[in-house]
Amino acid sequence: MTNANLKSYHLKSKSPLYNKMLHLCQKAAKSNANVLLIGESGSGKEVAAHCLHYKSNRSEKPFVSINCTSYTQSLLESELFGYEAGAFTGATKTKKGKIETSNTGTLFLDEIGDLSLLTQVKLLRTIEQKKIQRLGSNKELDVDFRLISATNIDVSNAIKENRFREDFFYRISTIVIKVPALRERKEDLKDLTDYMIAKSQREHQIEITGIEPRVKNFLIEYDYPGNIRELKNIVDRMVVLSENGIITEDGLPIMHSIKSSTTRQNKYAFKELLHYKDFKEQSEKAYFKWVLDQFNGNVNKTAEAIQMSSRQLFNKINQYGLK
Ligand SMILES: Nc1ncnc2c1ncn2[C@@H]1O[C@H](COP(=O)(O)OP(=O)(O)OP(=O)(O)O)[C@@H](O)[C@H]1O
Ligand SMILES: [Mg+2]
Repeated sequence: MTNANLKSYHLKSKSPLYNKMLHLCQKAAKSNANVLLIGESGSGKEVAAHCLHYKSNRSEKPFVSINCTSYTQSLLESELFGYEAGAFTGATKTKKGKIETSNTGTLFLDEIGDLSLLTQVKLLRTIEQKKIQRLGSNKELDVDFRLISATNIDVSNAIKENRFREDFFYRISTIVIKVPALRERKEDLKDLTDYMIAKSQREHQIEITGIEPRVKNFLIEYDYPGNIRELKNIVDRMVVLSENGIITEDGLPIMHSIKSSTTRQNKYAFKELLHYKDFKEQSEKAYFKWVLDQFNGNVNKTAEAIQMSSRQLFNKINQYGLK
């Protein structure tokens, strides 16, 4: 795929799985069909949404994205549908909503797994009729948008548990596209890593001339639960912590180092003699800081990934002053 707006991504792939996904995006882009993107956190769903938009005949029109987890239900609805002056306390001026601003273009509903059932009902009507009413108005406005949604939750499970409406799901998912996890396309790791290193060098104005072989091995063998986002974070850290242009093990996150140290000398885990209690606390703090980083500080996602309750994770965050 080539397009000026997609230039900031690395879309050349050696992976049949990723290429199949790109091909599907290209095909779907030409239609007006509603597309649901599914895939793990950090795998590139937003990137796929950009592909869909910039390969469509709406590419010159607005791409309007809204993250459905970032708002309370009432705020989300006013963001989506807009409001008239006086619709509620604080609504001093009339404001267009995201759906209205996406008119003639693409509307990207990100993280739809968190939509309340009520908002799903309201959106379902909008999607079916392509009409909206701003909050506080009884005038219907026509809107023409192409819908792309994304989620990393298991929607069929959410439907079973009555957290997600089946009719809404069918409406938004005319075409479902799965973005593969990074560990499912290891063929691309080398190129992606090189690409990320080049990008990071430019960003941090650091010249890299080599990588220690052990680090290379680690990068190829690692599983990347946080997918491309995690790879990007690791590479950034390694570039910043490089020594005289060489990427060394020192740039690897502490948990990786400790993990690998069991098979080598314990260079990192036991740099100095610590009391067990202090060691445990320091490692735990580093661990939570690192996992939270992998999920952009999102507590719910992190908790799910490490199989811990959000409440327990909150306690740890408070305990270690991580926010
Ligand atoms: N093909 C790619 N080329 C370059 N960078 C990429 C590519 N795919 C993903 N990325 C980068 O990886 C990060 C995660 O991608 P993105 O935000 O699209 O993931 P996501 O699936 O939407 O994640 P989340 O579920 O957390 O919202 C971003 O910084 C993005 O720029
Ligand atoms: Mg996303």
